[in-house]
Amino acid sequence: MNKFLFLALLVGTSMVNAQQHPLFKDADLKAGEKLIAENQCNECHIRRAGGDGSDIYQPKGRINTAGALRGMVEYCNTELNLGFFPEDTNAVAAVLNKQHYKFR
Ligand code: HEC
Repeated sequence: MNKFLFLALLVGTSMVNAQQHPLFKDADLKAGEKLIAENQCNECHIRRAGGDGSDIYQPKGRINTAGALRGMVEYCNTELNLGFFPEDTNAVAAVLNKQHYKFR
């Protein structure tokens, strides 16, 4: 790989990491990761989608905006009776956005 390409990739990745959708700018990612683990989101998604469960997250599917993503997390919260506070919903959606959906 030539030097320029390497640099371009490096800059590209760090930008992806730095950018987060404005909806999620105050989100607590650590809290979100914890909530995802505690509420067994992945366990259930794995049963449905296989692999590590992340195939359930379809950035090009129905959930195609950051607002819709947060709405979906809120829907799961209600449906599964998770008892999330609004900031919990936001934190979980922020993590999913950062790792899977990448809406800006
Ligand atoms: C009891 C099983 C179950 C649990 C627990 C569960 N989910 Fe899901 N989830 C599903 C199923 C099934 C779908 C797929 C629905 C479909 O595609 O029709 C889904 C889809 C989703 C989607 C939308 C994916 C997309 O892009 O269309 C999101 C976001 C999501 N779940 C978030 C969560 C989060 C966050 C948690 C944990 C707090 C969670 N889910 C826990 C079963 C579950």
